Amino acid sequence: MTADGPGGPDRAPALDPRRAGAFGSSAEEYERWRPRYPDDAVDWLVPPGAVRVADVGAGTGKLTGQLLERGLGVVAVEPDPAMLDVLRRRHPAAEAHFAGAERLPLADASVDAVLVATAWHWFRPDAAVAEVRRVLRPGGWLGLVWTGPRPRTGWTAALAELDPDRARTGFRDPVRRAVGVPADEVETVDVLWDRHVTPDDVRGLLGTHSGVAVLPAAERRRVLDAAWAIVDAERRRLGTATVVWPQAAECVRWRP
Ligand SMILES: C[S@@+](CC[C@H](N)C(=O)[O-])C[C@H]1O[C@@H](n2cnc3c(N)ncnc32)[C@H](O)[C@@H]1O
Repeated sequence: MTADGPGGPDRAPALDPRRAGAFGSSAEEYERWRPRYPDDAVDWLVPPGAVRVADVGAGTGKLTGQLLERGLGVVAVEPDPAMLDVLRRRHPAAEAHFAGAERLPLADASVDAVLVATAWHWFRPDAAVAEVRRVLRPGGWLGLVWTGPRPRTGWTAALAELDPDRARTGFRDPVRRAVGVPADEVETVDVLWDRHVTPDDVRGLLGTHSGVAVLPAAERRRVLDAAWAIVDAERRRLGTATVVWPQAAECVRWRP
């Protein structure tokens, strides 16, 4: 369930290009089912007085849109053409580039922050850190966020059990997820938030996780149907249309 959220994989998937490239095959689905980031997390990640920021691994522009809404100039960087197409269509005000984190299409000292939402674990950390150092203005910082379900009890624990990555999951220190960033120089915060979801919402979201997207079709359908049934059973038990799914946004800041 949390293949790309808290408790999800950190370093390993970056070594698997098939998974890193799995997003584009369902870019529209991704845009439809993935949530926005909680405003408190975005507040914490954006430096005070920032004017121009980069959103790297920007996907379809979930975070890009929230940054534009704050009046920021946003450079969105994304290496998957299908994801980038959706981003360009939805957020024409962003300066969008087809590129990866390891070679940013940005001048030296040209942005107030490099922001990365649920994507740092896909980057080659050494190259990405070097690029972050290069493009940040003096005093600027790197802001990372991952969001996903927490806590995992009752029906949410049953959902987590469906995660193809569960062997690698567990609540790990977000600092460990910021691979390559000096651990003794980071600040972290967890923003807890709730999602009100239907069985279809959860099925749709899970289908956008790379660990599920690359499963054989029959296995993928089994996992998605099982997730739907878990949420539907809880919804029926409560007699409601939606259920509350507790989430955490794990945030990390690093000022080189
Ligand atoms: C889980 S999605 C997150 C997208 C978006 N930031 C969001 O929050 O919805 C991960 C994104 O990282 C991108 N990605 C994978 N490898 C990358 C790399 N080396 N450099 C930059 N982005 C990369 C993928 O194409 C995908 O769009």
